[in-house]
Amino acid sequence: MNTTPPPDIIRSAYAELIVSDLAASRAFYVGVLGLVVTFEDDDAIYLRAFEEYLHHSLVLRRGPVPALAALAYRVRSAADVETAADYYEELGVRVERRAPGATRGIGAAVRVADPLGFPIEFFYDAEHVERMTRRYDVQGAGAISRLDHFNIVTPDVPAARDYYARLGFRVSEDIQDDDGVVYAAWMFRKATVHDIALTGGAGPRLHHIAFATHERSQILHICDHLGTLRESDRIERGPGRHGVSNAFYLYLLDPDGHRIEIYTHDYYTGDPDNPVVTWDVHDNQRRDWWGNPVVPSWYANASTVLDLDAHPMALTERTEAAESDVTIGADGFSYTRRDDAETGFKLGTQV
Ligand SMILES: [Fe+2]
Repeated sequence: MNTTPPPDIIRSAYAELIVSDLAASRAFYVGVLGLVVTFEDDDAIYLRAFEEYLHHSLVLRRGPVPALAALAYRVRSAADVETAADYYEELGVRVERRAPGATRGIGAAVRVADPLGFPIEFFYDAEHVERMTRRYDVQGAGAISRLDHFNIVTPDVPAARDYYARLGFRVSEDIQDDDGVVYAAWMFRKATVHDIALTGGAGPRLHHIAFATHERSQILHICDHLGTLRESDRIERGPGRHGVSNAFYLYLLDPDGHRIEIYTHDYYTGDPDNPVVTWDVHDNQRRDWWGNPVVPSWYANASTVLDLDAHPMALTERTEAAESDVTIGADGFSYTRRDDAETGFKLGTQV
């Protein structure tokens, strides 16, 4: 166990994705999603959403293998970057100090190979750029406000939950069964449902990155826009209402198959006694409040993760039951619910 305290993490801040074709990615992230280009050249595009004043919340970098290159958390101060280095050096994992500008727009930072196998960056200093909150002259009908969270696939959810708890993240919701198997957990630093979601499965893999809008109408517009472009096959799942988080959601696949969620209407979690909501894995309303089935690809597919040398990480299989096997029948369309009278289980039981 560490004697060094963890860094004071504020929130999930940016992701760096490797993409195979920058022009195709630009057409999706800028042309359809409307993200703002802070900087671009032949190797990378740096993007932000309309309310963000840091240099970027997404870096798309051209490379041979579509993959996740880094997930970055912002910490409270420059001193916390040093704390992060000390914390992970004591954990015994690889720690890489990055000079200011190693990632354009980002100051001194630390990248680590975290115990779950993910390349994680901690930074504080970052270049400020125009916050376009009131730039209604350029915001489209599907305007995206900000990055909201990351969702990662990892084989042992309780171990991952405990690791993140030691970093100061708290659980808002999770999915379990009667035997205590934990299938997924949602954890936060900022006062929303999550900064990081832990999805049980072969990992490390990136399940998705989520951006927030203010309104459901903006999500619906993105669907309409894709329809007009005859690219509705980019819509993997939704739009719909989650049970977990209560958010209205849409899952899209970018040109390389990286999954992007557009997300709105979750809830405030900032009080110290915020109740945890535990869902039963057999409750079909946990993933979609309206009971729509989850498409099998959503459970099966996720992005490759790179190590700090840009090599794909080997996968570790999950040994416990998989949520997809529990809830998707062989036909892919089973519907299950719990009988409250019989089990006493209630939706959103607070523990
Ligand atoms: Fe999500």
